[in-house]
Amino acid sequence: MASSSLVMERGVLYGVSAQTKSPIIIDPFDGSFDNYNLAVIAPSGSGKSYFTKLLALRHVVAGTEFLVVDPEDEYRAVAEAAGGLMVRLAASSPHRLNPLDLVAPEPTSPGAAADPLAHSIAVVLGRLELLLCAGAGPGGAPGVLDIYERAVLDEALVQTFDAAGITSDPATHQRPAPLLAHLHATLNRMDNDVAGRLAMRLRRHIPGAGSLGAGVFAGRTNVTLDQPFVVFHIRELPKELWPLAIHMISSHVWNTARRVRRQRLLVVDEAAMLLAHPSGGAFLADVARRARKYYLGLVTIWQKVGDLAGSEHGETILTNSDMKLLLKQSEEIIEAADARFRFTPAERRFLLGALKGEGLLSARGGRWPIKIEASPAEHRLATTNPRDLLDAASSASGPTDLVGSGCRRGA
Ligand SMILES: Nc1ncnc2c1ncn2[C@@H]1O[C@H](COP(=O)(O)OP(=O)(O)OP(=O)(O)O)[C@@H](O)[C@H]1O
Ligand SMILES: [Mg+2]
Repeated sequence: MASSSLVMERGVLYGVSAQTKSPIIIDPFDGSFDNYNLAVIAPSGSGKSYFTKLLALRHVVAGTEFLVVDPEDEYRAVAEAAGGLMVRLAASSPHRLNPLDLVAPEPTSPGAAADPLAHSIAVVLGRLELLLCAGAGPGGAPGVLDIYERAVLDEALVQTFDAAGITSDPATHQRPAPLLAHLHATLNRMDNDVAGRLAMRLRRHIPGAGSLGAGVFAGRTNVTLDQPFVVFHIRELPKELWPLAIHMISSHVWNTARRVRRQRLLVVDEAAMLLAHPSGGAFLADVARRARKYYLGLVTIWQKVGDLAGSEHGETILTNSDMKLLLKQSEEIIEAADARFRFTPAERRFLLGALKGEGLLSARGGRWPIKIEASPAEHRLATTNPRDLLDAASSASGPTDLVGSGCRRGA
């Protein structure tokens, strides 16, 4: 196992060497990386979210924008301590994300440059598939549209965009995108059975007519990402809509990254939910492939290597994640990880015997045994252990001191 130190001049503390205890300080935006993406892979309870919460606290202080999809509602304390904005996607919240938003143009992508509207419509179709087929696939994953539904929806989208004044002329793409209600009206006007059935399925996502998602995806996008730290809270949405929520949040961050370039990290927990769906996986893989150009680092979180390895889009994400963090592995899952990473006997022993927060960090061509450590103040913010939370609640609340770990309170 590599044991020399990994210290980058402008980085933040990722952990300490499990062998020498020397700090591992990483700047994910350093020019020596091929991309700024990180895949965090480990079974439940091994410390993935704990680690990303520490990254949030440390990177925000260092001036990197940090955006997180939070399915468990566990970033609240971290957001409060670091001045983060909580964006709740829920019935009782005013926040809206519109699945009909166009994708910001990609000047360097030949397909998108040739016909940006067609490119956007393909992405929008993928999102609508996640909406209309929510929960219809195996194990509650999103299902897929059949070829007739796809063709009709494609036609309906062209008509709906046209009615909103959005055509293949890029000059029209700044106009406000139409809403689900407009698409619903178009489908109703189309005189065929498939359109009628799609309209019925869409109806339950439009306020006044149905309740699923309570209209979160039925309004104009009104979430501005001009904060250094944004936590997207999706737990109050029905679980079958989480894949769409993850897609919409990533799309929105992706669009923003392409307009305004800043160092940004986007954490997608439960990334496997999106990967389980063909167009969701294609979208995430696309972001992983191209994020670097827009100063965006995609941090994806997975339960096991098998969630990624073997699937086309999963492989793309894995090969486009220059850093990988594998926390402790069990006997049941280590073979798949070994097949991919070819551990040395010492690495294998280390991963099998690792405690929470211990693992191997693969970066810059080496592998580093790492231990994720937090200051007591950081631990209080990052832990979800009920005993820690009880202790914290009952102890007198002194001022939160993040300085011990090289961090301080954000704005
Ligand atoms: N590095 C660490 N140091 C101390 N405690 C830790 C560390 N990592 C994790 N823990 C403890 O373990 C708990 C579970 O960790 P965490 O929530 O990060 O697991 P996870 O890998 O995200 O699991 P899941 O896949 O279920 O979301 C934390 O709330 C914390 O109490
Ligand atoms: Mg977690």
